Amino acid sequence: MNTNKRHAVIAGNWKMNKTPSEAKILINELIPVVKNAECDVVICVPFVDLAVAIEATRGTNIKVGAENCHFAESGAYTGEISASMLKEIGTEYVVIGHSERRQYFAETNETVNLRTKAVIAADMTAIVCVGEVLAERENNTTADVVTTQTKKALEGISKADLSKIIIAYEPVWAIGTGKTATDEQAAEVCGLIRNIVKELYDNDAAEALTVQYGGSMNPKNAAGLLSMEDIDGGLIGGASLKADDFAVIVEAAK
Ligand code: PGA
Repeated sequence: MNTNKRHAVIAGNWKMNKTPSEAKILINELIPVVKNAECDVVICVPFVDLAVAIEATRGTNIKVGAENCHFAESGAYTGEISASMLKEIGTEYVVIGHSERRQYFAETNETVNLRTKAVIAADMTAIVCVGEVLAERENNTTADVVTTQTKKALEGISKADLSKIIIAYEPVWAIGTGKTATDEQAAEVCGLIRNIVKELYDNDAAEALTVQYGGSMNPKNAAGLLSMEDIDGGLIGGASLKADDFAVIVEAAK
């Protein structure tokens, strides 16, 4: 991690966990244990937990994100939530294109691009997820898959707007499996993402981009992963649901 140029961002992805009252309890446990963080601390929570989370974190160093949003401004999209709705209640980040959404909810590279643009237009930060499935790693197409996902996600996005984007490299085979990419495997793909951004924009844009690793990051492996030059933070699922575990990862981002 190059702390001269980039700020580390440790983000929890709660997925479909915690009711609003449970969210409040976890946040109250988190506040004291992450208050001295030297990195940005974000929790991405279910839609119905957002208001409670925003209220409970007011005046603390914890920022709140959503886990998805629709790409349209408004309209006949029953059951969906727009970026401006999230913005108005104080949401600062939105996870876009998580592999679970790609896998179970028909998310495509094209809709990832549209959603990313909607988040930027609403003046929030998009945490855009990319990553290969196991079969792709095994047949050596990881670089192709991640290159395509990254390029499509960024299509039509200006260099100025890149400051509103974090890219999270999440190998799908490492998510929720307890199987983590090695420090070197994770750093190699995070470096590849940075190179793609350099090719699409320029060196300054690439050096300023925050690239996270996600996939079974935990208190034991976080320090190693976060010590790598091209890994600027983490997107944490399971371990973000336990205040003490999340705090150790936040601490490792020093
Ligand atoms: P995990 O999830 O840490 O539970 O593997 C990471 C993610 O899906 O963002």
